[in-house]
Amino acid sequence: MREFTGVRPRLKWHIVGRSSHAGAVSNTHEPPDTPAELAKALEDTGYLADDGLATAAFLALRMNRPLFCEGEPGTGKTALAQALAEVLGAELIRLQCHEGIDASQALYDWDFPRQLLHLRALEAAAGASAERLDADAVEASLYDRRFLIARPVLRALQTAPSVLLVDEVDRADDEFEAFLLEVLTEHAVTIPEVGEVRAQTPPLVVLTSNRTREVHDALKRRCLYLWLDHPDVTREIAILRSRLPGLPERLAGQVAAAVRRMRQLELLKPPGVAESLDWAQALQLLGARELDMDSAAASLGAVLKYREDADRVRDQLDAVLV
Ligand SMILES: Nc1ncnc2c1ncn2[C@@H]1O[C@H](COP(=O)(O)OP(=O)(O)OP(=O)(O)O)[C@@H](O)[C@H]1O
Ligand SMILES: [Mg+2]
Repeated sequence: MREFTGVRPRLKWHIVGRSSHAGAVSNTHEPPDTPAELAKALEDTGYLADDGLATAAFLALRMNRPLFCEGEPGTGKTALAQALAEVLGAELIRLQCHEGIDASQALYDWDFPRQLLHLRALEAAAGASAERLDADAVEASLYDRRFLIARPVLRALQTAPSVLLVDEVDRADDEFEAFLLEVLTEHAVTIPEVGEVRAQTPPLVVLTSNRTREVHDALKRRCLYLWLDHPDVTREIAILRSRLPGLPERLAGQVAAAVRRMRQLELLKPPGVAESLDWAQALQLLGARELDMDSAAASLGAVLKYREDADRVRDQLDAVLV
């Protein structure tokens, strides 16, 4: 694997309004001068960043380095990439990792059925005109770009501006990590039949991991690292109210406080922000003005997803709701 030695071009910074389509870039601005400016832009999309997060994302942008986000489920890792894409007016291109994922799912593949149809058409045309097919020419025509299926990594290299979200990289295996490392370092790939595809403007790369396994140091070394924790109660209330505009402040406070206590109970699956949002929404739909024993018991399935966890919380519901 080669070390990257060149100077990478700076990402162009596009800011579009909330309702703008990702592809429709209306304005081009200079990058934010401070993490606080970035935090404000993220907030305008509904994503609330604390200082540490805003600083890490700001540096990733300004240094053109991938941002490696680790944290418990539901702490806003994926949503961060989505919010950054919105702020940048960039296309969000997502690569969902899973066990056994390989380069043909991440990079490119050939459209085999269309190649076969093309071959049949060539044979039919040659048969009609009684001409012999030139095998080399046929092969070359089969590996034309129009039969190339660009998977997320290739699409991100070809799209500017773009944010490449490599989601749940800990689910992929070692060989895939090595492949990713090479692409992230080079911002280019070589397709034997087509040649090199190099990004004019490298995508902003956000990798996420739930830390089900450690990702190799070599990959981490190329990234800026960000650990996302569950938000504190004040921030969680702000997130709930930003995502669910009609939510009464009191109910938001009660949900945030109860969820915080649940997280201290060593449950099988402690609730993340996603669960507190679901819970608050469920309570709203049930017409609950506040979180009491009855409304909590009725809606517990929105926040706890294991029977053991639900039993445990039900046993001490009064303490959780204090
Ligand atoms: N700081 C935040 N500001 C606004 N919304 C947030 C924030 N953090 C989390 N959320 C919301 O919480 C939900 C869960 O977030 P997300 O899916 O990004 O979590 P995750 O860390 O990727 O979880 P997982 O590891 O399970 O994939 C989303 O609806 C997201 O919008
Ligand atoms: Mg996620």
